[in-house]
Amino acid sequence: MAKKDIDWGNLSFGYMETDYRYVSNYKNGAWDEGTLTKDANVVLNECSCVLQYAQTCFEGLKAYTTKEGKIVVFRPDLNAERMISSAKRLRMPEFPKEKFLDAIQQVVRANEDWVPPYGSGATLYLRPYMFGSDAIIGVKPANEYQFRVLTTPVGPYFKGGVKPLTIRVCDYDRAAPHGTGNVKAGLNYAMSLYAIVEAHEEGYDENMYLDAATRTKVEETGGANFLFVTKDNKVVTPKSDSILPSITRRSLVQVARDYLGLEVEEREVYFDEVKDFAECGLCGTAAVISPVGKIVDHGKEIALPAGMTEMGPVTKKLYETLTGIQMGTIEAPEGWIVEIK
Ligand code: PLP
Ligand code: COI
Repeated sequence: MAKKDIDWGNLSFGYMETDYRYVSNYKNGAWDEGTLTKDANVVLNECSCVLQYAQTCFEGLKAYTTKEGKIVVFRPDLNAERMISSAKRLRMPEFPKEKFLDAIQQVVRANEDWVPPYGSGATLYLRPYMFGSDAIIGVKPANEYQFRVLTTPVGPYFKGGVKPLTIRVCDYDRAAPHGTGNVKAGLNYAMSLYAIVEAHEEGYDENMYLDAATRTKVEETGGANFLFVTKDNKVVTPKSDSILPSITRRSLVQVARDYLGLEVEEREVYFDEVKDFAECGLCGTAAVISPVGKIVDHGKEIALPAGMTEMGPVTKKLYETLTGIQMGTIEAPEGWIVEIK
């Protein structure tokens, strides 16, 4: 066994086929035992529910090499729980938590050589996903499902790594009140593609979505939650029933309070307040914490005082503490780090 010959330091956030993926099938009301396979292709009936009605949900987490050379994953129990809530909302069978955690162990162990080395800046991204696989033509849930976990080594989600981003206030809505914004349904991402392509064409890195009902409150971006820092160093993060409950954001709230001694407010955040914040960051598994330097609202620019050259001081401390915990240089709260054995 030897690490793959990859230029780990120059990876982007892209797909690279690795050796193994985990597959389990649901049929006649039960999940099978699950197995690893070398086959990266999925063969489906032309009328499968995922192809016709987008019955699919997914998760995202990362495997890291610690300073001591162990391979670990970050809070996979929370991904398992969130996938159960996504599955329920889409009328899919739950993939049991214990099975989910076992699948993560198996697939990371099998792809050990693809886990980037400590200090390379790269990680192994794990993508658990589930979809309705049998043929369905009337609108109803599938009877059969497949759960899979693919892995791919990745670098930073945003080009330029930790260079502050420019985002725009988006005219399209991401999620309706009482809709599916609080689960990780594939459909939430399909409907964001128009907006992200348009944002990129206009030179922006991401979209800031506002609440669909009043368009006055900050929700999230297409793939990350917001964290703001006030001028007196308070951390503020939007609370809403239509955003994804980010595991990174929930962890950063705890890091801010318990490691950095900062005050944290989880509450509705009005867009009108944004001009008064000192720092802004996008947080998520893929984004880690990516600093935002500028927010553009239909030609009106809000330049965050933290600037366009580096992360603001509080964002930087949060970033360093969280990544220190993930890479094993800072002691983690109980249960956050799970070793691959
Ligand atoms: N919000 C959206 C819409 C996402 O897709 C993600 C990524 O999973 C997040 C937030 C961040 O969530 P997490 O920190 O659990 O990765
Ligand atoms: C993640 O952070 O894991 C996500 O799923 C976000 C996705 C848009 C890449």
